[in-house]
Amino acid sequence: MMKYCKPLLLVLYCFLSVIFNNLYAQNEPVPLSEDNLKCASCHGSKYYSFTNPLTEETNRKRMNPFFIIDTARYVSGVHRSFSCSDCHSYDYNSYPHPSELKLEPKFSCIDCHGGDETFAKYQFDKIEEDVNNSAHRNAFGTQFKCEMCHDLHTYRPVARDEHSKIKHIVVQDNQMCLNCHNDLSKYQVLTDHNKPELLTTHSWLPNQELHFLNVRCIECHTPTDDTIMVSHRILPKDQAVHLCSDCHSTNSILRDKLYKYAAQQSRSDNGYYNSVILNEAYVIGANRNKYLNIISLLFFGAALLGISIHIIFRIIKKK
Ligand code: HEC
Ligand code: HEC
Ligand code: HEC
Ligand code: HEC
Ligand code: HEC
Ligand code: HEC
Ligand code: HEC
Repeated sequence: MMKYCKPLLLVLYCFLSVIFNNLYAQNEPVPLSEDNLKCASCHGSKYYSFTNPLTEETNRKRMNPFFIIDTARYVSGVHRSFSCSDCHSYDYNSYPHPSELKLEPKFSCIDCHGGDETFAKYQFDKIEEDVNNSAHRNAFGTQFKCEMCHDLHTYRPVARDEHSKIKHIVVQDNQMCLNCHNDLSKYQVLTDHNKPELLTTHSWLPNQELHFLNVRCIECHTPTDDTIMVSHRILPKDQAVHLCSDCHSTNSILRDKLYKYAAQQSRSDNGYYNSVILNEAYVIGANRNKYLNIISLLFFGAALLGISIHIIFRIIKKK
């Protein structure tokens, strides 16, 4: 009897751990620490209040929109374990903030992640090199920093596992470009000239809306580079992809770009790519739904339980 117990327990353990992994996906948000709440009481919303010690009146004012931190996203960003004062001077704890803080140098991604061994899989140094060679750098020099696209207070990279949905990735990534390319106030922080209308400059693309929901800007605006997950070298506009067949073919560039996320395990399967290219709905795993996963696991578990009970009864009957 005992000799059946161990394998049964093992099966049960495996089953429970799969369920737990699905229910409690990694990267759970953590609540804001007390320190961070102090800063967030002002920087977390459009308005802030303070008591003027001279008049003893409470004033309510509008926060500069560039100084608002999205605290809901801060707590699930990759830097959520940081206290604001890890990167910003502790002197910000007093308000009004001392004026000399305006001159405080700020850490950049590469200050912390340059030569980063812990997170080598992201290839920070190659990313930096690509950014240095991008059209934006050519136009604006070092003024065009990583932070133009990545808000380090909220940033979290697209997950590499099969659960990530292609459409979701597309929206999230395109937002990084549209934040600026569709927002005159941000665009003109960098340049005085008129912002080209994306809808007009891309009018050669049929079914534009559908395309912008199914491919990312960087699909067409960066070179194909299979040595890195996300190429950061934005090419000059005359080198952008405009051939339909670059994507709509068996040898689609999307294989080495967007579909890397969904296709890391099954790179060699060509038929699979074909279906992916025609319809994202066929991407294996890309459309997996968390609840469907759980339900199918429950069925799986119920079946397993049935079999186990059956075995146990067989054993008991044999005795
Ligand atoms: C009482 C409201 C209030 C609190 C609390 C507060 N801030 Fe501010 N902060 C402001 C306002 C308003 C500004 C806009 C510029 C100014 O008035 O100095 C600002 C500006 C800043 C800036 C940008 C400074 C610049 O000009 O480059 C940083 C960085 C900053 N705060 C960090 C913090 C941190 C970190 C904390 C918590 C330790 C904090 N703040 C707490 C209201 C607040
Ligand atoms: C991992 C480091 C890091 C952490 C943690 C961090 N910041 Fe920042 N913060 C920066 C950097 C770097 C910039 C400058 C970004 C840029 O150049 O656009 C910045 C910019 C800001 C600004 C805008 C000022 C400006 O110069 O554009 C405010 C306001 C601010 N941070 C507040 C906060 C608050 C509040 C917290 C905590 C909830 C916090 N930061 C946590 C690194 C950090
Ligand atoms: C002040 C130093 C500092 C700065 C500035 C900084 N990071 Fe980080 N970053 C860290 C540390 C430390 C961690 C690990 C956090 C943890 O494990 O809780 C981290 C984690 C990450 C991760 C998560 C890796 C993983 O798989 O969990 C990414 C991605 C990342 N940072 C990207 C960036 C980007 C992009 C920027 C600039 C926009 C940036 N970081 C700026 C220190 C920094
Ligand atoms: C022109 C916009 C832009 C600039 C500038 C930019 N990035 Fe990115 N970055 C993106 C996009 C889009 C992605 C893909 C989506 C994602 O994973 O967040 C990305 C992804 C990443 C990733 C995750 C890559 C992976 O393997 O999953 C890291 C890390 C990163 N960027 C770091 C940086 C650093 C460091 C800099 C500055 C040297 C920088 N980025 C500058 C747009 C930009
Ligand atoms: C299907 C490929 C494709 C996609 C997707 C795409 N672009 Fe383009 N884009 C091009 C091509 C090709 C040009 C050059 C058009 C021309 O000059 O005739 C261009 C031009 C541009 C220009 C320069 C316009 C000018 O006249 O100065 C910008 C800026 C731009 N794209 C941004 C974006 C952004 C942001 C996105 C994502 C929302 C995006 N593109 C998505 C192919 C694409
Ligand atoms: C903070 C603002 C900002 C962000 C974010 C941004 N851009 Fe730009 N981009 C600009 C500006 C400003 C120009 C005009 C450059 C010039 O004057 O030559 C530009 C130019 C371009 C061009 C045309 C280059 C040429 O040859 O003229 C392309 C293509 C482009 N961006 C694509 C992107 C893509 C793709 C992303 C997202 C991954 C992105 N941009 C993110 C501000 C931004
Ligand atoms: C960057 C890659 C890329 C480029 C370049 C591209 N497409 Fe697409 N196209 C796609 C993707 C991805 C879809 C969405 C497929 C789906 O329906 O899921 C799509 C959808 C379409 C559809 C709609 C198909 C349907 O099911 O309704 C048409 C039509 C189309 N593309 C034509 C073109 C033409 C014509 C060109 C050249 C002018 C072009 N595409 C360039 C990637 C691309």
